Amino acid sequence: MITREVEAELVRKAVEARDRAYAPYSGFAVGAALLSQDGRIFSGCNVENASYGLTVCAERVALFKAVSEGAREFVALAVACGQGPCAPCGACRQVLYEFAPELLVIMADGKGKTWCTARLSELLPHGFGPRDLA
Ligand code: THU
Repeated sequence: MITREVEAELVRKAVEARDRAYAPYSGFAVGAALLSQDGRIFSGCNVENASYGLTVCAERVALFKAVSEGAREFVALAVACGQGPCAPCGACRQVLYEFAPELLVIMADGKGKTWCTARLSELLPHGFGPRDLA
């Protein structure tokens, strides 16, 4: 569980990160903010590329930044999109599942209004993770 204050801060950081999106091809800016167990917040925005398929989503940018800084356990993720909310894409769900199957996912719009929340395990039921390889 996280407090309303922490949830609001995560959404605020996701909205801020969205302003830094590099999305000249889709025009669709996304921001994310990921809270690690030790209380750090890692933000990310989508980074597109002229070779379209090399685009990386905001959620994965945030996660990879976090892991590269030594974080391995995560509590919550806020995602900020445009007029309405958006849920993490399938690829991001899988990558996040590796570290935090029970991650709380907060879906907000670009103005910081939260529309809904869900556990990652609800967004990716019967997910494949490290335990399946044991
Ligand atoms: N995108 C994200 O960053 N996160 C999502 O959850 C959905 C999609 C990005 C990828 C691409 O830059 C743009 O949004 C349009 O798909």
